[in-house]
Amino acid sequence: MLESLPADPAADHIVGLPSDLPPDLPPDHIVGLPPDLPPDPAADHIVGLAADLPADLPSDHIVDRAARRAAGVVKWTKYDSDVVPAWVAEHDLGQPPAVHERLRQLVDAGAYGYHDANESMVEAFCRWATRRHGWSPEDGLVRPTNNVVQGVWASVQAFTRPDQKIVLSDPVYYPFHELGPTTEREVVKWNLVRDDAGWHYDLDHLQALLEGDPSIRLLLLCHPQNPTGRVLTAAQLTRIVELAIEHDLIIVSDEIHYDLVHPGAVHVPTLTIPGAASCTIAVTSGIKTFAIGGLRCAVTVCGDERLHAVLAAIPDNLLTAPNRFGCEASIAAWDTGDAWVDDLRATLDTNRHRLVDRLHAELPEVGIHLPESTFLAWLDLSAFEPGDRPSTWLRALTGVACESGPKFGAGGDGHVRLNFGTSPEVLDEIIDRLVAGLAGT
Ligand SMILES: Cc1ncc(COP(=O)(O)O)c(C=O)c1O
Repeated sequence: MLESLPADPAADHIVGLPSDLPPDLPPDHIVGLPPDLPPDPAADHIVGLAADLPADLPSDHIVDRAARRAAGVVKWTKYDSDVVPAWVAEHDLGQPPAVHERLRQLVDAGAYGYHDANESMVEAFCRWATRRHGWSPEDGLVRPTNNVVQGVWASVQAFTRPDQKIVLSDPVYYPFHELGPTTEREVVKWNLVRDDAGWHYDLDHLQALLEGDPSIRLLLLCHPQNPTGRVLTAAQLTRIVELAIEHDLIIVSDEIHYDLVHPGAVHVPTLTIPGAASCTIAVTSGIKTFAIGGLRCAVTVCGDERLHAVLAAIPDNLLTAPNRFGCEASIAAWDTGDAWVDDLRATLDTNRHRLVDRLHAELPEVGIHLPESTFLAWLDLSAFEPGDRPSTWLRALTGVACESGPKFGAGGDGHVRLNFGTSPEVLDEIIDRLVAGLAGT
């Protein structure tokens, strides 16, 4: 979900296209696939694509700003071209080559009809989760969905009654603040706490909340955490699962950022914790790792058959399946993307150090902790008294567009979330602008 879309994203970038349309009208149409589209998209279509991999690694990626804008990528079109965007949670570092190749094949074939790629997508997800995370979900317990947030909302509807409460930790991915009002469930806050080492979950506080209120039924975990980048350890997850079992709590574990965890931390999927299967639903997707958010494809993974049967109460017409492009892009990315993601992680690791090192040296008034995960940094600008809309204030001063901290809930005052998932050149410009605009204010 985006904060707000530009007034008319379609306005300019489509202009002129109709005159270029080829004169291939239905009467001339020849039924058939281009020769290079394999007959069974599920079976072999990835074979061979990975051979080209080194051609387009994230570390080589050059961000062509004009091309991003012309293509209507909202990260780059929301603000004027003199603003450098670091707001929405999407990186600029491209996709594995196999994703482009597969989508091009489908476009060349005009393959826009109904599809049966869901099952292959789920199988590719399970292979990826096993290889990358030591987590082997059973495909029968994985429900293909359009997006991650849909899986969160559906879980709240399926596993709680209106008189039961949900627990949420601020600061958090801000659309989650709509969860209570839109499902008419009361929200109990288990907010992160901050000390010199950064932001943390306080598990004693969670225990006290659960002991004090038996109507709490569901905990929404953001793991790894957006916006602080905090990664829960196996020991912390084990305690959360034990508390869940003791208090008959359902855990919904949003693991959309699971691939992008930096050296020093490890992502432990909640469903790999002993006992978690009976009380956990995990939601995730490839969209953050591979920057394919517009394609809409995700999975909701139930720990066991009982949970799966309860979630089945939400009909397919509400918890909708992904489209073919989302499935095919995800399959191609998961089945060929290992080396590409390793390179992406190395690039993001370099970027996070560059950002933190430069800010510590050149703008020591900015509070920043080295993020353990994601391409998002949580900056405390309160020393500058930025007001209630810190991102608007910062944009006017520096020409860098971030997300405003107060939208993320408690702990967000005076903060902005900055996206460092971009090329070194763009990141340096972002930091240069922050330094030029804030030094001496
Ligand atoms: C924690 C978290 N969950 C969910 C999403 C959105 O995922 P989707 O677009 O698949 O609903 C985001 C996007 O930034 C996110 O950070």
